[in-house]
Amino acid sequence: MALTLQAQTAVAPGTACTRTFDVKPNSTYTLEVKMRTASGSDAVTLETSGLGAHDISIPTAKATWTRFSQQLNVADANNLTIRIVAGTGNRYDAEFDSLSIRRTGDYAAPSGNSPRRREVKTHLGITMQPDEKIQWMRDARIGMFIHWGLYAGPGRGEWYMENSGVPVKEYERLAYPESGDWYFTAKDFNADSLAVLAKDMGARYMCLTTQHHDGYALFDSKSASAFTSMQTHGRDFVKEYVEAARRAGLKVGLYKTLINWRYPGYFDPYGTDCAPNRFGHQTEAWHRYNAQQMKAELYLQTYELMSNYGKIDHLFWDGGWLQQRGTDEDAAPFWESGKLMEMVRELQPDIVCNPRSGWIGDFTCEEGGGSVKGDVRSGVVEKCMTLGGPWGWCAMREDSTAILSLQAVKRMCADCMVRGMCFLLNVGPDRHGKVPQAVQKRLREFGRWADEHAEAIYGTEGGPWNPVDGQYGFTRKGNKVYVYFLGEYDKDHFTLPPFEGGKKARRAYMVGSGRKIATQQKDGSVTLRNIPVEKGDISIVAVEYKD
Ligand code: GLC
Repeated sequence: MALTLQAQTAVAPGTACTRTFDVKPNSTYTLEVKMRTASGSDAVTLETSGLGAHDISIPTAKATWTRFSQQLNVADANNLTIRIVAGTGNRYDAEFDSLSIRRTGDYAAPSGNSPRRREVKTHLGITMQPDEKIQWMRDARIGMFIHWGLYAGPGRGEWYMENSGVPVKEYERLAYPESGDWYFTAKDFNADSLAVLAKDMGARYMCLTTQHHDGYALFDSKSASAFTSMQTHGRDFVKEYVEAARRAGLKVGLYKTLINWRYPGYFDPYGTDCAPNRFGHQTEAWHRYNAQQMKAELYLQTYELMSNYGKIDHLFWDGGWLQQRGTDEDAAPFWESGKLMEMVRELQPDIVCNPRSGWIGDFTCEEGGGSVKGDVRSGVVEKCMTLGGPWGWCAMREDSTAILSLQAVKRMCADCMVRGMCFLLNVGPDRHGKVPQAVQKRLREFGRWADEHAEAIYGTEGGPWNPVDGQYGFTRKGNKVYVYFLGEYDKDHFTLPPFEGGKKARRAYMVGSGRKIATQQKDGSVTLRNIPVEKGDISIVAVEYKD
């Protein structure tokens, strides 16, 4: 029987709405829900608890109603709590509708090791990159995301143009001095300093928004209708960025959106059914051709990005949807995402791409500030998030008490590490191109921590055992297992699950200080004694096994 809450419910920014369902232990359930915010840059996340060790969270930052379906494995619980969380930096309510759970079968909790597996699939005629081409990303673990564009001027997030329905001509003024305090001067943009900051925060790759949904390109383009930084500032910021990243020895990532709000055809791709919008566009037959022009510009600009800047390692697609609704996959027939990816692969045979173009992706994303929960991920998964608020610059980023605390950033990073994920942390430089001081400071503090704990982070895998949310989790490399205590573990001893066939530990020590940790071994299990775990903070113990 399905338990359904039909009524549409709104959740105010920074708050959560909780629903509890009675469930049967040892069962699988299918959860279905529709969620939305009025702005695609706002976050709405769904979290579950009561599944035992491995709760899940569904991250989203989608424009308008998006359907989600998720299988839940209930081990030993009698009830399940579902929390719909609206991001603290949201400007609009998050809404959900038709939340239901349905029992779909029996479930037996797995015991023991959790081997990490990535399945290489073919979708829309394109096969995912083999493991060896994505290994660099698995090893890199931490990246720096950069959201920068004209929206840095108004400081109301990168969805400002759409959220406020700013007409194209008026929005363009942000690129010129006449817009005064909102003028995107870009005078302090220094790609080398950004690369230094990325290294200081422990990042091994970077990813820059070459063009966001407002259509302003930070690169040169031959497209007749393109609006670019080359025209407005005589600078190709993508070129500056790519060269600086390479000089610093960082892998190069580019963010590119598919959609473009400059085209009314985006809201009305077939000229028959214009989606509600704040620009005043209505259904018109010619929109169909305008939408095709938007698509042609996407193909040309992707060609330019993939051909003019040497080797690109990472491509972060975004905005694969259409008309502010549905999922990226829904819009794939319009964009011909397989064809788009075929071009990308031809020009950049080694590149790895996310799934937001509607094609399946070499890796997947978990987007936004929601907590990271559940098992070690089976493929390569990149968690991207900001330090609070929207992705683009906003005034709160100048305030060190308003952005995420160092503890919170470490926790998010640790939650990613023990699940084998990458952690892509966003900065939004201001309209001059400077990263706020408060953000720089936080990233450098975090980078010092990452550096001290480098052996438990870089080049490690998640596992060998699944984490327990909030309590502990593991990474491994060679003959060492790193036990992460995630802040809620409150005992001074810990027994690691045994390896199949048994393995003995040679020694254990605190990562960072190197302080020795006493071990006790019995029946193939290793127990750590007197571990100095600190509540609310991350501590990591290395356990070196005998071969
Ligand atoms: C969402 C937002 C977009 C942001 C992206 C980052 O898709 O719509 O504004 O750039 O998340 O992952």
